[in-house]
Amino acid sequence: MYSPRFHRIAETDRPKIVLTVDGRPVDAADGDTLLTVLMRHDGWVRDSEFDGQRRAGFCAMGACQDCWLTLADGQRLRACTTVARTGMAIVRKPATHD
Ligand code: FES
Repeated sequence: MYSPRFHRIAETDRPKIVLTVDGRPVDAADGDTLLTVLMRHDGWVRDSEFDGQRRAGFCAMGACQDCWLTLADGQRLRACTTVARTGMAIVRKPATHD
């Protein structure tokens, strides 16, 4: 079972938005990156294509390429450099590590 890695301790009054992660609604603050959304949600971004281990990003600044995600419409995005928007639907591989 994975758990949140980030916890909001400031800016708690920012407007809320809702997107989905693997079909489940997830709330976020307007302006959060997708990396922040996932780290606050369940603490992982994707499964590694090499060994299947869960990844959580590394650099958080667009350099390492460890945070690529796929949206339901097939669009691929870096989680750390993409601002979350209402209605986005993140689709990760089916969970096999829980
Ligand atoms: S965490 Fe390194 S590119 Fe996104």
